[in-house]
Amino acid sequence: MSKHISILTGGGDCPGLNTVIRSVVKAAFLCGWETTGILGGYEGLLDEPSTINLNYRDMDGLLFRGGTILGTANRGRFSAKTGYGEARQVPEKILAEARENFKHLGLDALICVGGDGSLSIAQQLFDAGFPVVGIPKTIDNDLQATQMTFGFDSAVACAVEALDRLATTAQSHNRIMVLEVMGRYAGWIAGYAGIAGGADIILIPEIPFNYESMCRKIDSREREGKQFSLIVVAEGAREKGGDYITMSNHDNEYGEARLGGIGHVVAEQLGERTGKETRAVVLGHLQRGGAPTPWDRQLCTRFGVSAVQLIADKQFGFMTAYQPPEIVAVPITEAIGRIRTIPPDGELCRVALALGISFGDG
Ligand code: F6P
Repeated sequence: MSKHISILTGGGDCPGLNTVIRSVVKAAFLCGWETTGILGGYEGLLDEPSTINLNYRDMDGLLFRGGTILGTANRGRFSAKTGYGEARQVPEKILAEARENFKHLGLDALICVGGDGSLSIAQQLFDAGFPVVGIPKTIDNDLQATQMTFGFDSAVACAVEALDRLATTAQSHNRIMVLEVMGRYAGWIAGYAGIAGGADIILIPEIPFNYESMCRKIDSREREGKQFSLIVVAEGAREKGGDYITMSNHDNEYGEARLGGIGHVVAEQLGERTGKETRAVVLGHLQRGGAPTPWDRQLCTRFGVSAVQLIADKQFGFMTAYQPPEIVAVPITEAIGRIRTIPPDGELCRVALALGISFGDG
């Protein structure tokens, strides 16, 4: 039966959003369905709804274009995330208005592409009677129920390229170079990039660090004749007994802190303690921009097709998930509410330790 489906992108952007949109529109078109894009994230469902007709023929070039042609927002009247593991209920008045507009637009289903916060909203819409399916997106890779979110691989690739570049300048100047990467309260980007980029020390939120341990590692490298060190630090890493480093006065309207600044703190402390020259680089939103990697492109494409299939099967309230080697469907409730972090005693950490990489603990 012919359907009119819709798609929106919520939360922070990341490479691969356009790839997902293209995949959904193409797969839907081949089912004989029409697709409408909701503009500006969930906000597009309010007031006079902002929408765009997504035509099969307009999808050319979206496979590898960064950003999202639909726009996105991680704040506004729908914001459901307030901090680490905390969610906020979207007011009933807002849900009712969105429901009314959705009905008025004649839509049969809504695909919500987002991370923890956006999928929490998707679940609330589902509970309010919306025919919703989810697609997991975030560079942080911190969602439960999926081995990988899209955007993560592209962010790691960006961080590894930065580490490759920093390694040569660190070596030339015998310096300690510190790279701060994103990831919120999970260390996946730092962990993967640190291993792939040959970091000597990786600091992640899951393992609080101390400076004495880091200095010992730098010292032992010096004794091996290596006068430079490469450190990757997750924005959510913190000193043992210390607090997260945040940008003061930058909490959003719901009190969610904006992490950032730990890279410079670590560089300064290590400079003072070792007497070596140190420099810090904050990679920031470079990790969220640009073209998706080939890995992300195939993941986005598979997620998009799978989401259309979920609608065909009327499996609402479900999300596409990567559980190797398959893309499967899981209830959205299984993915949200509790972030997925790196197990400190897991294989990833064991591999790093086996290579002599320090987590700055002990
Ligand atoms: O969740 C994705 C993410 O890029 C985090 O890694 C980072 O802490 C945050 O979003 C940055 O958000 P904003 O773009 O609002 O500064």
